[in-house]
Amino acid sequence: MREKIEALLAQAQGLKADTEAELEALKVKYLGRKGIVQELFQDFKNVPAEEKREMGQKLNELKDAIQLELNRLKEQLEGKTSQSCTTNDLTLPVDFSDLGARHPLSIVRNQICTIFGNIGYTVAEGPEIEDDWHIFTALNFPLEHPARDMQDTFFIEKDPDIALRTHTSSVQIRTMERNKPPIRSIFPGRVYRNEAISARAHCLFHQVEGLYIDENVSFADLKQTLYYFAKEMFSSDTKIRLRPSYFPFTEPSAEMDISCNICGGKGCNICKGSGWVEILGCGMVDPNVLENCGIDSKKYTGFAFGMGVERITMLKYQVNDLRLFFENDLRFLKQFETV
Ligand code: DAH
Repeated sequence: MREKIEALLAQAQGLKADTEAELEALKVKYLGRKGIVQELFQDFKNVPAEEKREMGQKLNELKDAIQLELNRLKEQLEGKTSQSCTTNDLTLPVDFSDLGARHPLSIVRNQICTIFGNIGYTVAEGPEIEDDWHIFTALNFPLEHPARDMQDTFFIEKDPDIALRTHTSSVQIRTMERNKPPIRSIFPGRVYRNEAISARAHCLFHQVEGLYIDENVSFADLKQTLYYFAKEMFSSDTKIRLRPSYFPFTEPSAEMDISCNICGGKGCNICKGSGWVEILGCGMVDPNVLENCGIDSKKYTGFAFGMGVERITMLKYQVNDLRLFFENDLRFLKQFETV
């Protein structure tokens, strides 16, 4: 049986078929119900027990090799017929494959970077796995501040000093530690919070942080910079309003609203009838933060701001569920600018 199988294996390499009928005949001859391979399987019961294992393997090999060869012949025949139909018609329209689209969050992040880049801001990044100093302590968070609470922050189990950053304000600290003023930078990046996932919140989202440190930087500079940003990002008739707020790392602190870009300030369900929507937090960098980074707070002042990329994107494109950004549903993603 061994010799028979080897001879058939050699034969299988040189099979030829010029027509569908010839191919069909080969199929019947080798793999048909009464074909050669089937016959060998019949004989298999006569193989001595100690050779059964090897012969069984060889038989299967033979069957696979013939099948492969028949498939190849089939493809060859099909190629021939389809070629003769099309005869290489170069006037036929080209079949373009689908182009990808940039993710809406990337579009908006890039836009934010361009808007600030146009007024001299550089872009910097920092690590997502951070230490307590850069996320909290250097940013003037008191030790018992609730934002350090396990509810909000993903800590690393083995080392309570290490956590996933909860905001990109940590990159402010890294930048001020490494550079001397003047500093004018923005810091885009991913942040993490221990939140239940819903239409309005996620455990992972994106922020862009901004920082400007120099001599004589004032709150008026902050206001004008953010006003410029709002008009560039939304539309030239966008208005802004600053409301007093609190952040440990800025004093004074504010939250900024823009006139609702959906209803133009008349009141709708996006702005809950108020005509305004909040888009960012900001303020003058607290002197303690400057000193923590080795910057002389008597000589230098500065402002900082931080915004959520998802929030801006939702307002800009009227997306009403944050989870859509993370589902990778092509029907959603295709609706934005193509690359
Ligand atoms: N880090 C703040 C947050 O995650 C946002 C923020 C507010 C950043 C005020 C700032 C700022 O730089 O001045 O909610």
